[in-house]
Amino acid sequence: MENPKSQILVIFGASGDLTMRKLIPALFSLKQQKLLPVNFAILGVGRTALTDETFRIKMKESIKAYSEEKVTDEKLLEEFATFLFYRSMDNSVADEFPGLKQRLDEIDSQLMTSGNYIFYLATPPSMYAVIAGNLSRAGLTLQSEGFRRLIIEKPFGYDLESGKELNRKLHDLMLEEQIYRIDHYLGKETVQNVLVTRFANGIFEPLWNRNYIHRVEITSAESIGVEERGGYYDSSGALRDMVQNHLLQMVGMTAMEPPSSLEPDSIRNEILKVFQSFQPIRESDVARNVIRGQYTGSTIRGICVPGYRHEKGVAPDSRTETFVAMKFYINNWRWGGVPFYIRTGKRLPTRVTEIVIHFKRTPHHLFQRETGATASNQLIIRIQPDEGILLKFDMKEPGAGFNVKNVNMDFHYSDLANIRVPSAYERLLYDALLGDSTLFSRDDEVETAWKFIAPIQSAWANDTNLKVYGYPAGTWGPSVSNDIFDGCGLSWRYPCKNLSDDGLYCEL
Ligand code: BG6
Repeated sequence: MENPKSQILVIFGASGDLTMRKLIPALFSLKQQKLLPVNFAILGVGRTALTDETFRIKMKESIKAYSEEKVTDEKLLEEFATFLFYRSMDNSVADEFPGLKQRLDEIDSQLMTSGNYIFYLATPPSMYAVIAGNLSRAGLTLQSEGFRRLIIEKPFGYDLESGKELNRKLHDLMLEEQIYRIDHYLGKETVQNVLVTRFANGIFEPLWNRNYIHRVEITSAESIGVEERGGYYDSSGALRDMVQNHLLQMVGMTAMEPPSSLEPDSIRNEILKVFQSFQPIRESDVARNVIRGQYTGSTIRGICVPGYRHEKGVAPDSRTETFVAMKFYINNWRWGGVPFYIRTGKRLPTRVTEIVIHFKRTPHHLFQRETGATASNQLIIRIQPDEGILLKFDMKEPGAGFNVKNVNMDFHYSDLANIRVPSAYERLLYDALLGDSTLFSRDDEVETAWKFIAPIQSAWANDTNLKVYGYPAGTWGPSVSNDIFDGCGLSWRYPCKNLSDDGLYCEL
């Protein structure tokens, strides 16, 4: 593993939650793995009045509180803290930025970071264009003295128009290759493993098409509600928050053609082609193919949980969806006619994300099956938790005759002793420091994804007859979400917390 070039990472929104819970612990973990640049500094920027010293104390506390593994090496923690700095300023005031530039110059000459700066905007999205504009005016986006990169978090806009507008504003200030848009699902080890499973093995790819696959199902379920984020979530909803980005990226990884190389654009071009091949959903088809739901109050394992409309920051008559299930097609030679079913929701029975490939049944049914007639081969790629892969297939039940039973063959990442699965932020920060943009969303991918969901947004906004189905918190969403399978006895797979315990004992 190579060390990134010398540089300074500037984090805007340095006293916020994201910095404390995710970014700084991930950076410390990179430090533990010796993956940070040799000459490196982190400059936190925020409105809160902190000194370098108080910022260091706060960040050391966050590392201890939020690191995935207990931090025992105090010496390393102290060493890490010595290259943390802080500047208190208002990001919206352009006049503050020459001062920021001066501070960067000072740290640069002190730590010999080669004039390379990378800016992470851990701020509300409304500040992205403002901060980028201020950086540009202060000459901080020009790459004449070193590289300049900008990292932003989703949401990248609110709809197609605002997504395009944000891209336009950023492109006025810098090159697309300087922009790193984080979709943290792409940073997940198991999402990247979809590529390896498909393209490192000769046995799956020949079957990975319309001739052998009946349907593809992707679930990303969360057991938590909106927690403290009601204000943000109520103006977003599950379609924007999860579908437009995380779920579609997983569809992209599952459906893409083999890339010609591992170059960033080679992979992203293939994902883009999948997005461009989505069969547009007409507004008039939204009612039939897209189901939205909202959780209502319920008692989960003896604990009373409030309905969405009673959450802090949520309007009491809100129609924002906390659940989406949808069906669509990809119009290309590989996938023509194969339905893709995706669903996501909050306050579902368990936290699980998985991709299920349902293979077609044999053309002739010779044997009597133990269970109903619909079971067939499934390959389940478990993104989280109990990360791994499960193949379900039929075997002969011992004894007289030819009774057939569906059995499991599984691999769990946890079986790889001594190998820790790094967090998504660790991987993405490391890649951004290296300048590898493979796992970041490109402008055209983001816009094409918005374009695909635009008719759904529009139908929901314009047609007040389109229902928002209530579902009790702790259930698998509105029962009508099974209707998108068009009958035939099909329904969503029932995932358990443990990948391979399905059918035996389902822990939630
Ligand atoms: C975020 C969404 O992008 O992803 C959250 O804004 C959601 O609403 C989260 O909870 C889920 O991420 P993960 O990694 O916990 O599946």
